Amino acid sequence: MRGGPQISASILNADFGRLADEVRRADGGGVDSIHLDVMDGHFVDNLTMGPVVVEAVRPATDLPFHAHLMIDNPLAYASRFADAGSDLIVFHVEVDDAPADVIAAIERSGRRAGIALNPETPAEAVHPWLDAVDLLLVMTVHPGWGGQAFIGEVMPKLRALRDEVDRRGLSLEIGVDGGVNLDTIGDAHDGGGEVLVVGSALYSADGDLAPTVAALRTAAGVHDHTALDAERT
Ligand code: DX5
Ligand code: ZN
Repeated sequence: MRGGPQISASILNADFGRLADEVRRADGGGVDSIHLDVMDGHFVDNLTMGPVVVEAVRPATDLPFHAHLMIDNPLAYASRFADAGSDLIVFHVEVDDAPADVIAAIERSGRRAGIALNPETPAEAVHPWLDAVDLLLVMTVHPGWGGQAFIGEVMPKLRALRDEVDRRGLSLEIGVDGGVNLDTIGDAHDGGGEVLVVGSALYSADGDLAPTVAALRTAAGVHDHTALDAERT
């Protein structure tokens, strides 16, 4: 069954010169988790942060850290991000490492596992792993940068994955990542997303982030899901 909207702050668009303060700012604004975008310059054409950065900002909050690994070799790095303080480690189904091996490595490190798929990747690619992970992350941008436009064409796939998870009675959460803002968060939640990753739409605000977080929650939850669920059964 679908949970209420959770806001996960992507710090990719935060001020990296004051990253720990920016994590505290998100925590103070009332977000539910911190989303750390890890890029290796190979899986995506950008380089962002390694375990040393995760470790540096870990003491800034008790909120869960979700490490989003956009890297070619998650198997080699999963335990290092666990040791750095990540609570949930998400890797991409498109990489060459075998998902079963990566999930096992994350679980051996005592953390929760998540799997992500790019906009062009079909839903069926993650079906074999839905009962083995705690989070399914549906990309609504081509990964690599913050501040990109939401790809609405992904919504039918998001709904299909929501249906698959509900049909199988699985407990994993579904996340939506990329271009989520006041205009798109309602569709992302309606389509079945529960963990809604927000980067530039959050960190473009100065000072106290509480009003922005509250506005995002309202925009996400305004739609009456009971009517929606009744409509779909
Ligand atoms: C993109 C990242 C996203 C991104 C979100 O590759 O995975 O997490 O930083 O930022 P916005 O909300 O600005 O798209
Ligand atoms: Zn991300």
